[in-house]
Amino acid sequence: MSYKTLEARSLSGGLGAEIYGTNLKDHGNAELWDELQRALLEFKVIAVRGQSLSPIEQRDAARLFGEPNYYPFAQGLPDIPQMTLVVKEPHDRRNFGNGWHSDTPYLAEPPAITTLYAVETPARGGDTLFTNMQMAYEELSTGLRQLINGVTGVFSASLKYRPGGNRQEHHAKIKSMPVTNTENADRYESRHPIVRTHPQTGDKALYCSMAHTLHFEHMTERESQPIIKMLYEHAATPEFTCRLRWEPGTMTFWDNRCTMHNAINDYHGARREMRRLTVRPEKPV
Ligand code: SIN
Repeated sequence: MSYKTLEARSLSGGLGAEIYGTNLKDHGNAELWDELQRALLEFKVIAVRGQSLSPIEQRDAARLFGEPNYYPFAQGLPDIPQMTLVVKEPHDRRNFGNGWHSDTPYLAEPPAITTLYAVETPARGGDTLFTNMQMAYEELSTGLRQLINGVTGVFSASLKYRPGGNRQEHHAKIKSMPVTNTENADRYESRHPIVRTHPQTGDKALYCSMAHTLHFEHMTERESQPIIKMLYEHAATPEFTCRLRWEPGTMTFWDNRCTMHNAINDYHGARREMRRLTVRPEKPV
């Protein structure tokens, strides 16, 4: 695909691109926004380099992709309650977003798109991995695809199967983030297809993770978990992934309908600060 208003450089053969030559404050440039939307569909993750955005400017750019929605387990900024800070201080050992996942699938209408803006980044480490869940689906055998097509997953915020403790224990250790409401995590549960169809491209993608999928409908957790684990490990196949190196002023958009991501926790002793805003709540189909 070719673009007139921006330069897109692929991050890997699997997915992802860096975007150069754009200014996300240029709201009047309809062609730019059309091309950014097209680039997001083409690459599934776009890292727009060289921006300088206040929280309001980030929100205004994100809004061009859809209406903001809330993250239930962290306090938002006073003037933009849907926007949360993702911070790890030098003394912290845990980070937010570690382990492969798509954002908040335990909501009835999870956000189609997440925006993450880098304020401060470590000199080394703190990268984010992404994986292409459309590719992960397409690379399954026809037999397994037939088996899981039409299966409904039960998605929970409890983090019951996440190594290292449930949400309350896990978030209590993420000391520098304004965590809230984790005692109610078990109440956040939704049912969605584990093979979902992208509403804009019509492509199918795997929608399932060890972090959030408790079990399949009409199957026990004991029966479901080995299959969920296998799908999860398959999704992390290196050929489906890319690795994003952050720098201050990078604003990344990713499509939760066809990707998972994993924030690497390899920068103890350094500080990382990001601003996160999700948009376009949408029921998976
Ligand atoms: C997240 O999972 O939303 C955070 C990702 C990151 O900090 O890289």
